[in-house]
Amino acid sequence: MPGVVLLGAQWGDEGKGKITDLLSRDYDYVARFQGGNNAGHTVIVGDRKLQLHLIPSGIMYDNVTPVIGNGCVLDLKVLIDEIDRLESEGISCERLVISSNAHLIMPYHRDLDAASEHRLGANLIGTTKRGIGPAYSDKVSRMGLRMQDLFDRSIFREKVAAALIEKNDILAKVYGLPTYTVDDIATEYQQYAQRLKPYIADTSPLINDALDKDDWVLFEGAQGTLLDIDHGTYPFVTSSNPTAGGAAVGAGVGPTKINRVLGIAKAYITRVGSGPFPTELSCADGDTFIEVGREYGTTTGRRRRAGWYDAVITKYAVQVNGLTDLCITKLDILSEFPTIKICVAYKHLDQTYTTVPGHQSAFHHAQPVYEEMPGWNVDISGCRHFDDLPPAAQAYIKRLEELAGVPVTMIAVGPDREQTIHRGFLQRNRSN
Ligand code: GDP
Ligand code: IMO
Ligand code: MG
Repeated sequence: MPGVVLLGAQWGDEGKGKITDLLSRDYDYVARFQGGNNAGHTVIVGDRKLQLHLIPSGIMYDNVTPVIGNGCVLDLKVLIDEIDRLESEGISCERLVISSNAHLIMPYHRDLDAASEHRLGANLIGTTKRGIGPAYSDKVSRMGLRMQDLFDRSIFREKVAAALIEKNDILAKVYGLPTYTVDDIATEYQQYAQRLKPYIADTSPLINDALDKDDWVLFEGAQGTLLDIDHGTYPFVTSSNPTAGGAAVGAGVGPTKINRVLGIAKAYITRVGSGPFPTELSCADGDTFIEVGREYGTTTGRRRRAGWYDAVITKYAVQVNGLTDLCITKLDILSEFPTIKICVAYKHLDQTYTTVPGHQSAFHHAQPVYEEMPGWNVDISGCRHFDDLPPAAQAYIKRLEELAGVPVTMIAVGPDREQTIHRGFLQRNRSN
């Protein structure tokens, strides 16, 4: 041990990629446990910008074995393209290990994701159209294909044929779309199988053995708590469990192997796609978050929705994940504002809520109750110690800590690795 889970405490894009990359030098394994290429993580090192969708953000470090766990869903073409792109930039993917139990995103999953969004019209979820929902649906319906199926041709064909009976009917009869043949899919996927064979392993024993011999494992979450299929703003969520429990299931370890849970939260909030967002701003302040914070999706390029920090949501994330630590990112972006707002409660009809309302209708219509704090209006991107921050920024962090009930043990003040204030988050004594 230790096993540390790093996850998004809001609606995704909190800066998980930067923090995973930064922490990775202390770890032996970095394991993704859910999601697929709906994720988009940007890692900046010096003047290099790396965008990752499937490969764990620890890939840049030679000491790290990156693992894609059983809980992930994989678009094999995207995966191979990402490996090729990284290798062409001189980043070796030789150490990458992929679970033989991870599920495959098939071409019909992508088609069905896009078609279903189109059908929903104004009520669309705003998915990334990467086939994530349909792939997880098939997994739960027990008609999915897994990485290991690629290595038994007859089983693979049998499973594709079984799936196509239903999928082709839906594609053709419900949506009027082209259908697939077993031969087409088998030919395409055999090529992927050859290419990916060296990376496939049974990853649960690998990670358990590592933890048993006191190696350090970082479980890297994608998406965020409020996008969780069980605990998020259903149905405006993704189809997996980005919450801490998902790490145990999606990597194949027991919950007793997890020592710390680090929630990443932006100093304000963004969300991509539809769904409730109590602190969303449609005024100039919202535009400032977008333009100064460069809030455009890494995966789809969509403009993100933006609003003030919501302490009610963070408290909820502390609860459903058992967070032990918080990391606040993008504090530098708040330097633009003369005063800063924090949402501390919601109002709906004549009721005040200090926790997330149990019924979705109340959450949809919740009006934020704000507390205001003075801003600091100076550039803080060069600060490396808490005491370097202006008193107003220190007071803001202390207030967030108080409201969340867990310590803020890391603060990011810029996209670069170096632009980080360490405040006591677990660091490795290499003599361990
Ligand atoms: P993820 O999906 O949680 O990994 O987050 P994304 O990578 O999609 O979005 C976060 C964006 O903010 C990326 O472009 C990061 O380079 C950038 N970023 C991360 N931390 C900071 C920070 O503290 N300040 C600034 N200005 N940018 C940051
Ligand atoms: P990272 O890891 C932000 C959102 C989509 C949509 C909903 C469902 O970069 O934080 P899906 O394609 O998963 O079925 O879409 O979830 N979404 C994300 N939003 N960051 C992400 O990942 C996201 N992955 C999915 O916009 O609202
Ligand atoms: Mg992202």
